[in-house]
This record gives sequence, structure tokens and C-alpha cells, in this order.
Amino acid sequence: MGQRIDVNHLNIYYGSFLAVEDVNLNIQANKVTAFIGPSGCGKSTVLRTLDRMHEITPGAHCTGEVLLEGQNLYASDVDPVAVRRDVGMVFQRPNPFPTMSIRENVLAGARLNNRHIAKSDADDLVEWALRGANLWNEVKDRLDNPGIGLSGGQQQRLCIARAVAVHPQVLLMDEPCSALDPISTLAVEDLINELKHEYTIVIVTHNMQQAARIADYTAFFNLKAVGQPGHLEYFADTTTMFNNPQNEEAERYVSGRFG
Ligand SMILES: Nc1ncnc2c1ncn2[C@@H]1O[C@H](COP(=O)(O)OP(=O)(O)OP(=O)(O)O)[C@@H](O)[C@H]1O
Ligand SMILES: [Mg+2]
Repeated sequence: MGQRIDVNHLNIYYGSFLAVEDVNLNIQANKVTAFIGPSGCGKSTVLRTLDRMHEITPGAHCTGEVLLEGQNLYASDVDPVAVRRDVGMVFQRPNPFPTMSIRENVLAGARLNNRHIAKSDADDLVEWALRGANLWNEVKDRLDNPGIGLSGGQQQRLCIARAVAVHPQVLLMDEPCSALDPISTLAVEDLINELKHEYTIVIVTHNMQQAARIADYTAFFNLKAVGQPGHLEYFADTTTMFNNPQNEEAERYVSGRFG
């Protein structure tokens, strides 16, 4: 089952630059939450604090709390590597490992966690993850072919299979469909809709129709001015966000009258 995430008074820095200010946000388990908002408002930055990827950037840090099912990810005794294992990340461009086969791509994360996987267990895991990513039927006869030989949409589903193969509690996706054609986009959206039964999903998207189609909740981030920190302007269930938002900036943004 997915886990809930509670963000309390989160301030996110790159060196001394405060990029995102005082985010307070509750992300429900087994739901899809979309992050929307203008470029530079901090959507990707907030997303990367949810699995402690943010601090991989030199000088990057944050203050405040991110609670995964009540446990603060930033407590001093928490191992960031373990956090990144429990929380899977899918990126904007599909990034299968170029030298690896389809099968080895799926197993890559799991092998890092547990070096010795018996062949039969590996076969089961590959099939399970590829079925979960809605890709099995398309690749089952060519598992030893290179992952980069797949179409863009198939590669993105392969990356999703790689992420789910480590059994994360949460899946974070940063514009996972922005490099895909409309058919592949719909395939990934269908998949997200199915995956939320198992995982908590947070997705960054610039596509308003996509947010309206797949998200249960939507968080609108905004920027007072260029060079100012981003902030969470308005959070609502997706129907309210798109049909009846109780926030003027959000209303302007979702109706395309922004800026
Ligand atoms: N590695 C970095 N070093 C310094 N500043 C950064 C870095 N990455 C992002 N920023 C800054 O942090 C702020 C938020 O950027 P972020 O990439 O999170 O925005 P975004 O909402 O994801 O934008 P987009 O929609 O264009 O992807 C911006 O001011 C950006 O310039
Ligand atoms: Mg971004």
C-alpha cells in the first residue's frame, strides 16, 4: 500500500538562495496528487525533497519536515539512501541504462539493494514489474534486447517498471509524459491510474488536461516575481481546482489567462 506524506514548513535552498518558501502540504496515500504552476516556481525542487534527491545537488538543503507515514525523512538517524529506495522517481526524459537489456534495466535498482537475486526470482520480478507497467506483452519476447531500442513511450514505461521493481511506497514523477506522443501519454496515464491502487503518486505536469484527467488532488505553486521564492499558492481536490477554484491566481492559471 502507498504511504501518506505530510510536508510541514518546508523551506528549500540552493546554497543561500531560498528557492521555495514555507510549503505545507498533505499528500494522501493511494491517490494521485498533481503539482502545477508556472516555470521556475519550484515544482521539481519540492518533488525532489520528497525522496531526499534535492540534497544531492552541492549546497542544496532544506529546513522543515517531510513525514512519510509520520516518520520525518530528515531526522538525523534516517539514511537518505534508504529513503530513495522507498520512494521511486521517474524523470522527464525516459532514461533507461543504455548498455543494459530490457530485463537488466528492470532489475537494476533491485540489484543495487540486494546483490544476489536467484534467477527464478529475477524472472518473476521482471515479469511482475513489466506487467505492472503495462509493458509485458510488448516486450516479453525480446527481454534481452537493449532497453534503448524501445519507443519513447515504451522506454518511459520501462523506467516505471524499474521504479516499481524495488517496491517503493511512493512514486514521484517529474513531467513523465512531456517527451511522449499522445498515444504513449495515454498509455502512461492509464498506467498511473492503475498504479495508485498500490502506490501514492505525485506527478508534476504542465498539461492541464492531464492533471484534470489523472489527479485526485492538485497543488498550484506560484511565484510572486522572478528571483523571489516559489510557494504553494492553492491546494484543492482536482474538480474544485479546475471548475471552481477559490483562489484568483489559480483561476487565472488553470483558465490560461496567466501572466
Ligand atoms: N541546481 C540548481 N541550482 C540553483 N538553482 C536552482 C537549481 N535548480 C533549480 N533552481 C532554481 O530553483 C527555482 C525552482 O526551480 P524548479 O526547477 O524547481 O522549478 P519548476 O517549477 O520545476 O520549473 P519548470 O516548470 O520549468 O520545470 C528556480 O528559481 C530555479 O532557477
Ligand atoms: Mg521542473
